[in-house]
Amino acid sequence: MEIPDMASLKLQSRPEMFDFEGISMTHFFTDNWEKLKNFQARPDDILIATYPKAGTTWVSYILDLLYFGNDDLERQTSKPIYMRIPCLEACFQEFSTVTGTEMADNLPTSPRLIKTHLPVQFVPKSFWEQNSRIVYVARNAKDNAVSYFHFDRMNMVQPDPGDWNSFIEKFMKGKNVFGPWYDHVSGWWEKKQTYSNLLYLFYEDLVEDTGREVERLSSFLGLSTSVEEREKITKGVQFDAMKQNNMTNHVNLPFMDFKISPFMRKGKVGDWKCHFTVAQNEQFDEVYKQKMKKTTVRFRTEI
Ligand code: A3P
Repeated sequence: MEIPDMASLKLQSRPEMFDFEGISMTHFFTDNWEKLKNFQARPDDILIATYPKAGTTWVSYILDLLYFGNDDLERQTSKPIYMRIPCLEACFQEFSTVTGTEMADNLPTSPRLIKTHLPVQFVPKSFWEQNSRIVYVARNAKDNAVSYFHFDRMNMVQPDPGDWNSFIEKFMKGKNVFGPWYDHVSGWWEKKQTYSNLLYLFYEDLVEDTGREVERLSSFLGLSTSVEEREKITKGVQFDAMKQNNMTNHVNLPFMDFKISPFMRKGKVGDWKCHFTVAQNEQFDEVYKQKMKKTTVRFRTEI
């Protein structure tokens, strides 16, 4: 598999956001749309689906260790997680000749681990036809918004977030890349009611008891991981371990400015309290009630 030449990145300015079939997107995630729609999933593919900043990298790394942690030292020591587990819709032509679908097509592993931030209605239909396993990770709206704000500040391939106040206004209107958080988490939640090969995880549960969630994942995937292995994995995926690990902390991505904010930022439940004013929190709760009134999915904003 070709490794994109990150050093050749030539990005003049941040991308524009536009409406794409009702969802705010940037061209980085729509330029390869035909190939994306026609992507051929396999029955043993594992799709990791999330709204951005819900813990994608965390769960990706857990799955990677569950499947390949013991038998492939090179993978663990020299291949960043975003190269092991491609983002299906990604198409960063400014600095890579390889699209997300090509990376997925060329994955040498079995199963293939693939990630996506697509809202459920955009997922290539072959995943449903093949009955592939899907792990969805959701995070409470307030912490998700805070994390997304800092991510957009430091990530030059994302639209400029503006200040916190304008970002939170945009978030409540659903004007973020990959669309409204509300529809994303509830759309996937509804899908779970009819598609049994979908495991719906919560970031808050992962923080509360990572070992329990590793076990839950292992059993959903039908793996027989020993207690010792699971303990080893649980230790390796702790926030501090992943922050130190250059294969998981995204330190090599030149379009991320760690001086503004690190990728592995805080990893906490309840950090929103350091950002929301009382008035913002009240307004957010009001909007939340309206937007989430039809769904039964429930989140914890503290643990
Ligand atoms: P914060 O910005 O709140 O720190 P994604 O991988 O979907 O982009 O999500 C990134 C968020 O998940 C960041 O949140 C990051 O710190 C957090 N995260 C990543 N690994 C984690 C871990 N091992 N434990 C807790 N949080 C983690």
